Amino acid sequence: DWIMGDYISEAVEKIRAQVGDEEVILGLSGGVDSSVAAALIHRAIGDQLTCVFVDHGLLRLNEGDMVMDMFVGKLHAKVVRVDAADQFLGHLAGVSEPEAKRKIIGREFVEVFKAQALALKASDASKKGAKWLAQGTIYPDVIESGGAKNKKAVVIKSHHNVGGLPEQLGLKLLEPLRELFKDEVRELGVALGLPYNMVYRHPFPGPGLGVRILGEVKKEYADLLRRADAIFIEELHNFVDEATGKTWYQLTSQAFTVFLPVKSVGVMGDGRTYDYVVALRAVQTSDFMTADWAELPYALLKKVSSRIINEVRGINRVTYDVSSKPPATIEWE
Ligand code: XMP
Repeated sequence: DWIMGDYISEAVEKIRAQVGDEEVILGLSGGVDSSVAAALIHRAIGDQLTCVFVDHGLLRLNEGDMVMDMFVGKLHAKVVRVDAADQFLGHLAGVSEPEAKRKIIGREFVEVFKAQALALKASDASKKGAKWLAQGTIYPDVIESGGAKNKKAVVIKSHHNVGGLPEQLGLKLLEPLRELFKDEVRELGVALGLPYNMVYRHPFPGPGLGVRILGEVKKEYADLLRRADAIFIEELHNFVDEATGKTWYQLTSQAFTVFLPVKSVGVMGDGRTYDYVVALRAVQTSDFMTADWAELPYALLKKVSSRIINEVRGINRVTYDVSSKPPATIEWE
């Protein structure tokens, strides 16, 4: 019997015993695991925890502000927000091959995070220097880390739960979620006061919009994609399936928008347009290894399409991806 209140008290005691009066650094990504780890460690040791949030400029609309509102505004945690968008976009300029983009984003992420962590190690509030690196590793990560399932999984692991980073930084590793499954992590997050919407969000890849903009990543494309994707996600929350009473966001495992850097012709009022295309992607899956494209209601698709084309100047065509995995992958890159 899993009693959350007792679990939290035990976990808090364990963290306090482990850490004592030493300082801890944690890389906050906005994802579920690092968010729950941060909330739990903050509950245990308060200001002895400093979170580092690297904004690579490839996050969803308002995501950075939402993370800050939550952790600084509501939980009163210490968060260093690093706006590294220009640095990431600079290194991505001219690069269009998907795995090359992933490598650059992963490498820059480690660089930026390391620099911040070393600075915190050298000088924290108590002048003792941080001694611990906390990570949101969960039980399935522990099992998988032996043999990665596919080549993308290797990058997943090297992106946020960075292997070898504690040693490189000379920090001890703190992993309070190591024994938990995803469902338990989510329950824990809600019990710690994180918003339901944050804790039950669809997964978002570490490289973010970097692999949802096909080919070369440009700020202009990212800005258009962010706005189109926000509309799609908003309408998935708005549309409720009558048979189940669930929203289409809940009925899909992952849904997002992909930016296609090609132009097509359209008409708007009396004029001709020549603008970009986006593809909507929504899948249902239990393990993300295979997935079916979701049979979204036409009314939803119609609403999303007309809103994107009317509200996002620069996009004049919306398509729906009807490919399952395999042979297609969930992401387009
Ligand atoms: P694919 O596209 O391989 O995606 O069918 C399966 C799941 O993995 C996620 N994914 C990634 N997650 N870094 C991540 O953190 C990555 O490079 C990456 N590539 C794919 C994808 O969003 C889906 O949930």
